[in-house]
Amino acid sequence: MRKNMSDNQEISQKLLAWYQKHGRELPWRVKGGAHPNPYVILVSEFMLQQTTVKTVIPYFKRFMEKFPTVESLAKASQEEVYAMWQGLGYYTRARSLYATAQIIVNEYGGKFPQSRTEVLKLKGIGEYTVASFLALAYNQPETVIDGNVMRIICRLYHLTDALDDIKETIRKKAEKLTSREHAADYASAIMDLGAMICTPKNPQCLLCPLKDMCQSKDKADLEQIPIRRRLEKKEKQGSVYLIQNSEGEYLLRKRTEPGLLTGLYEFPWKDEGKIWENAEDSGKTVTHIFTHIRLTLHVYKIKSEKPLLPDSFFVSEKELSDYPLSTLMKKVISKA
Ligand code: ADE
Repeated sequence: MRKNMSDNQEISQKLLAWYQKHGRELPWRVKGGAHPNPYVILVSEFMLQQTTVKTVIPYFKRFMEKFPTVESLAKASQEEVYAMWQGLGYYTRARSLYATAQIIVNEYGGKFPQSRTEVLKLKGIGEYTVASFLALAYNQPETVIDGNVMRIICRLYHLTDALDDIKETIRKKAEKLTSREHAADYASAIMDLGAMICTPKNPQCLLCPLKDMCQSKDKADLEQIPIRRRLEKKEKQGSVYLIQNSEGEYLLRKRTEPGLLTGLYEFPWKDEGKIWENAEDSGKTVTHIFTHIRLTLHVYKIKSEKPLLPDSFFVSEKELSDYPLSTLMKKVISKA
């Protein structure tokens, strides 16, 4: 190692050297600099926002075959985009990606914006995605901070206060480590370290390129770091209705209310109380955790020949899988 290298530089260089040798080969990744195609980074980062690498890989490949360019995505229909997203969940991401493709084509003539301010104005892009996009697509010295990175920083410096109280400290430390010259590789490297070595359980410290600098390596609380404070979740009790006609088909509706689940198909449901008083209680419940709410839906059954709501229609059990359903509705199906 060179003399006079700061601790931060030493950490970042060790991480980069480890990545060159051990970093994952992924379908949206090139090693040794920015990716030549920003569209590849855009699609993969949207998919990876709430989904693991392993799950994303086949979806990413199919999506890129169907929509190989930002133009092809922009001119697709919403149904086609949803169809390619089906199974990944969190459909808001699909909608935002689609809207973003349209902005890039219609407002930027198909050329991706490269400034932080402009990228943030696209749809569905927050602090995390703007940083990963600019680092991976343009090698800009942005610091990517997600759960993996926070865990690495907390362990490296043995930060044992509740995560919510030290976000700013973590961000500053993470920024100091970020390689300014090799931002793209550095972003990939720290993600891989979090996924492969510095895992939540059973971290592989012996294989870690940062083991000599890590202040938690031999500490008993290593696996407990980062420390999370328990979020109080509001409890809600609602109802969901499996309405069947005499042919055994189910009543489905498309959700049009603005919000998280817009555009997805669902059985009629309500997050508090009942919609219909005389429905038969199946005795089954489905629980779903939203950010601040723990929702329990009681599953009711109704026999009806008529669609009981506007814009609703009957679908056979087999056809149910042709419609994009929210995770919540998938839980209802598998429970009932
Ligand atoms: N998580 C988010 N973005 C990622 C990427 N580009 N590679 C691996 N994991 C990721």
